[in-house]
Amino acid sequence: MKKLIIVLLMLPVLSLSSLSHAAGGAATYPLMEMEPDLNDKASLQRGARTFMNYCLGCHSLQYQRFVRTADDLGIPHDLMMEHLLFDPSARIGSLIENTMTVEHARQWFGAVPPDLTLYTKLKHGPEYFYTYMHVFYEDESRPLGVNNLLFENVGMPHALLELQGLQRKVCKEIPRLAENGGEMRDPLSGEPITAKACDKELIERGFSPLELVEGTGQLSPEEYDQVVYDLANFLYYTGDPNRLDRERIGVYVLLFLAFFFVVTYMLGREYEKEIH
Ligand code: HEC
Repeated sequence: MKKLIIVLLMLPVLSLSSLSHAAGGAATYPLMEMEPDLNDKASLQRGARTFMNYCLGCHSLQYQRFVRTADDLGIPHDLMMEHLLFDPSARIGSLIENTMTVEHARQWFGAVPPDLTLYTKLKHGPEYFYTYMHVFYEDESRPLGVNNLLFENVGMPHALLELQGLQRKVCKEIPRLAENGGEMRDPLSGEPITAKACDKELIERGFSPLELVEGTGQLSPEEYDQVVYDLANFLYYTGDPNRLDRERIGVYVLLFLAFFFVVTYMLGREYEKEIH
């Protein structure tokens, strides 16, 4: 009986911890911050363009249609057809799909590229995605030559390599910590005493173990941040295309309820007069 009570008491804790695991995945690297903004139509349009150009070859958005995307993002249909719809057999009303088969994907990458329509809603949030696209690095031991700090031994090539450039793992000199947690300093000069740290130690201390190999990317780090931000914003939109509508309607509903409250209150007072 005692055991049963303990198990019952533990249940909420257990389910909470498994939930947090599902949300955080196997994240080993701290997530970078990004705040999606669905009102920024220009950003969403740029994100859609990057997706169609760099990702659609492997990843579909099978729950989303071109026409809906064009309408929501304010892209005229003819421009959408001309610049963002590359499959000659696809129509403006088609789902955003590609022609890669599961067998081919397995053969080529050892893994199937997941559909990304609901990725930021169901699997990982936009911050995870934003970080994921920042932390590919060179790894000769992998078949595609790259690995990812968030997703160890990922089967995906770095699709934006030409934009970001190649990153390498490095070791850095960082301040040593004393037992009380403070930085150790040289008693004479006051300079911090440093020690060489690599990989995990760097991450634990809040330093990035990756360094960009200069001259390998077309974009500056700030421009690349923007490209990935737009892409994350776009995938945040596809995860729930009705979100903006819902929020807009929600305001009307609350206004209506406020108005209705006044009417109901006055009606109630009238009734009360008759009771007393
Ligand atoms: C050449 C094919 C290819 C291209 C192009 C490609 N991917 Fe992938 N992607 C994959 C494969 C394969 C996987 C599955 C990796 C695995 O499970 O190991 C994957 C996985 C992913 C994941 C899932 C990671 C996770 O947490 O499960 C995301 C997100 C993703 N890709 C985003 C993108 C984006 C955004 C682009 C465009 C910039 C892109 N991919 C371009 C092949 C591709």
